[in-house]
Amino acid sequence: MEPFGLTIGKKKIRIPIIQGGMGIGVSRSGLAGAVAKNGGAGVIASVALGLISPYFKKKSDYYEANKLALRDEVRKAREIAGGGIIGVNCMVAITDYEDMVRVSVENGADMIISGAGLPTSLPALTKGYPDVALVPIVSSVKAAQVIIKKWERSFSRIPDAIIYEHPKYAGGHLGASHDELEHPKYDYPAVIPDLVEAVKPFGNIPIIAAGGIWNAEDIKMAMALGASGVQMASRFVCTYECDADIKFKEIYISAGEEDLAIVHSPVGLPGRAINTAFMKSGKKAKGKGCMANCLKVCAKRDTGEDFCIALALKQAVTGDIKNGLFFAGSNAPRSSKLVSVAELMEELSEGFVPSHNPA
Ligand SMILES: Cc1cc2nc3c(=O)[nH]c(=O)nc-3n(C[C@H](O)[C@H](O)[C@H](O)COP(=O)(O)O)c2cc1C
Repeated sequence: MEPFGLTIGKKKIRIPIIQGGMGIGVSRSGLAGAVAKNGGAGVIASVALGLISPYFKKKSDYYEANKLALRDEVRKAREIAGGGIIGVNCMVAITDYEDMVRVSVENGADMIISGAGLPTSLPALTKGYPDVALVPIVSSVKAAQVIIKKWERSFSRIPDAIIYEHPKYAGGHLGASHDELEHPKYDYPAVIPDLVEAVKPFGNIPIIAAGGIWNAEDIKMAMALGASGVQMASRFVCTYECDADIKFKEIYISAGEEDLAIVHSPVGLPGRAINTAFMKSGKKAKGKGCMANCLKVCAKRDTGEDFCIALALKQAVTGDIKNGLFFAGSNAPRSSKLVSVAELMEELSEGFVPSHNPA
């Protein structure tokens, strides 16, 4: 049995598993709090939380509702976590990115995880909170180097960890073009060792592998390549504590491998999802106008040609099977039943001795 644990900046995580942020509302305080309580790092997805909160009654409430809902979720997660690590996933691509980061740190988030664009301004946004760990998500060594150099030059700071997300396996929006999703240049053996070497001259920056990590063997594989931990999302959907409607979880359980598909999101990126009625029917969340101006780049808002991704994701998390867009990693069809987060964390720690005091 090998001891394991993960230190990210000043934060110590007993089991080196970060539960990936899942928007809209799939990972809120219930899931994040439970993962943190059970030794991992729990992550709330901040995107458009207001839409599924009581604070949203009309379009003009959107930004304020997002702030209030995120505040509530961070505080609730902290209570459940009992001292465990709570992070917030803030996507650069969303219009109220800066507010989401600020509300997170003001309400006690331990860590900000930021992708869907390069989080070049993150240290400035969290300036008064030096203990908050800052963790970019990248899909290439080059992106990691750009972020590190920019942060060093402008803020005398380096990332506290970097997550490498593999586009062939991850769920949700993917950091590669559709044609390149399966390119071997993205494979873990091709990237993780290079990334570990590339960050070394800048200091101690743990590398975290995300996408397609399902069991303890996968964690060991990533760590053998030099990763210090993993980020896992799809595996946490079929837990009792996951904040999505039970119908969302049932879709994962009933899906087969042939049910995965790539959607062209109005954000301009491919996304991995379950091929449900919404995908097959030509994406009916079209409708008129823009619901909330939630994205910096949105084909639906800018050309009227695409579907509203906020509406489609909201419909999924609330259990609207017909109209929802169900984001999922390539392993999602391996879900076979609901389990508790405690059981899952125990299973994932198999063969390791979780360290209470990771180095
Ligand atoms: C339902 C769902 C929603 C997601 N939403 C987000 C999100 O809001 N922000 C983000 O950075 N990544 C998001 N992701 C990506 C995950 O955080 C994670 O990095 C990825 O899915 C890891 O692969 P895995 O699902 O195979 O474990 C989402 C993934 C899923 C499955």
